[in-house]
Amino acid sequence: MYNDKVISVFQHPKHTGEIKNHNAVGLVDNDSCGDIMKVFLKINDKDIIEDASFKTFGCAAAIASSSVAMDKIIGKSVNDALALDSQEIIDELGGLPTQKIHCSMLAKEAITAAIDDYRKRQKRLAKKASKQAQLAKNAKTDNAEAVKETPKIVEENKSQLLVKRLQKLVKKQEKTLDKILDINKRIEQIKNKK
Ligand code: FES
Repeated sequence: MYNDKVISVFQHPKHTGEIKNHNAVGLVDNDSCGDIMKVFLKINDKDIIEDASFKTFGCAAAIASSSVAMDKIIGKSVNDALALDSQEIIDELGGLPTQKIHCSMLAKEAITAAIDDYRKRQKRLAKKASKQAQLAKNAKTDNAEAVKETPKIVEENKSQLLVKRLQKLVKKQEKTLDKILDINKRIEQIKNKK
């Protein structure tokens, strides 16, 4: 049923398992047979797929197609990976039996789902970064206002200190005055006794 190339790739598939540090995952199933395909991508900040791998519960055609698909997208931009045509995979394998054509689409669909996942993650990260930038901006504004207010606050504190000192001085003078009055009173008393 399969040609030699398909059998050879199926027996020695590349890029299987889960790559470390992947930042996108796509999981799809095949409507016609119920088989499952999961693709892992590691995409750099220039949108280039640095690494890719797959795990599948699928047939020989799906495994061989996925191995070829991973080979084709590694080193490509996400847009180029999205443009990958299933026919390219089939041609690379030297053809697939008609009833197995749909199997070659599984990898392509999982790649599309993984890129969709990557873009959603990027959006979430961008949203988070913008929120943090806004918080930093607010903190800067608050800080600038605080710096602006500082001389005023220092002046207010100085005035409060001055008032306290004056109040202390007045109290001291009142005590001294009381003492003088007391002494005068005693002098008067002594005078009267004489
Ligand atoms: Fe299910 Fe091929 S029969 S993927």
